[in-house]
Amino acid sequence: MTFEEARALFPVLERVAYLNAGMFGPLARATADAVAEQLRRDVKQGRGGKPYADDMLAARAALRAAMAELLATTPDHVALASSTTDGCNIVLGGLGLQPEEEIVTTDAEHFGLAGPVFASGATVRVARVQELGPEEALEAIVAEVTPRTRLLAVSHVLWTNGVALDVHALKERTGLPILVDGAQSAGAIPVEVGSLDYYTVSGQKWLCGPDSTGALYVADVEALCVARPSYFAQLSFEPGGKYVPRPGAQRFDSGWMRVSALKGLATAIGLAPEWRFARMRETAAYCRDALAGRVQVVTPPDQAGLVTFLPEGNPEKVAARLFGEGVVVRNVPRTPWVRASCGWWTSDEDVERLVSAV
Ligand SMILES: Cc1ncc(COP(=O)(O)O)c(C=O)c1O
Repeated sequence: MTFEEARALFPVLERVAYLNAGMFGPLARATADAVAEQLRRDVKQGRGGKPYADDMLAARAALRAAMAELLATTPDHVALASSTTDGCNIVLGGLGLQPEEEIVTTDAEHFGLAGPVFASGATVRVARVQELGPEEALEAIVAEVTPRTRLLAVSHVLWTNGVALDVHALKERTGLPILVDGAQSAGAIPVEVGSLDYYTVSGQKWLCGPDSTGALYVADVEALCVARPSYFAQLSFEPGGKYVPRPGAQRFDSGWMRVSALKGLATAIGLAPEWRFARMRETAAYCRDALAGRVQVVTPPDQAGLVTFLPEGNPEKVAARLFGEGVVVRNVPRTPWVRASCGWWTSDEDVERLVSAV
């Protein structure tokens, strides 16, 4: 696939400089077609009978396999979830931590991770990393570890300043269980779960899938309780009697997902060209350098797809003005910053449109 062919997948790119994958990736026509085709079939043929159930189960298996490949693992370690937030809730709910136990997190986490962490009942220790580069941030996180720490809960790529944390080094240095929020990494940079314990994926961001889709990687399935069993958690169940959970991470599946969404996300994942990560690095570097000629750039070089900068004026108003001028970016709430998301589909012209408009 050439770069021009890749751009042609996404109709929105004909109109605007769409630099918003950190929130929602652009939707490819083929992804929308897969969703629409399934809905048409549902309308025409109904949603029942063995063929429908078999097709739904096959779609779940196909998406699980695609997610496993994306994370360099096997499908038995992957649960289908509706979002990163959902994945974080599954983990924190299943761990059942107590007030005397501690979680170490950072001040640069999205509520998708921070919400479940603070609702968990454990004591939370917060490393201040918002203004730090990747190495100092790692040190700040390690400094919060105590003998009572039971979990590290951090993003692979921070949604605010775009910094990519070396989560593998964090695991290696502390030896502690680690929950990694992969919302800004999965699909943007290569991910290998390796020795990490839990890893979440959002389908609607860098993977350009439909909304309310995602996944959760669980390394040791038996070590996590199924706190919120869905229909898919059961291997067998005798009403009024015993429930036997499924052997793999499927037991954590958060419930029925729209078949159209399952197929849409699988289609979207299949569209990504093999050169995507190289191009993403290149375009983020170009964006960073080009913006640096105009404004102060917050994101250090060589991180992931997010490029955060300090605009002149109120960031919310700047983002709204840029939107009006056909440049789709977002401000980072509670900061003076605006954030651009550079994907494998982003052209130099998109970046130049942003730079001349800020
Ligand atoms: C780092 C991070 N975590 C979690 C989320 C929430 O993702 P989801 O909507 O998939 O739960 C976001 C969304 O912006 C994010 O940037």
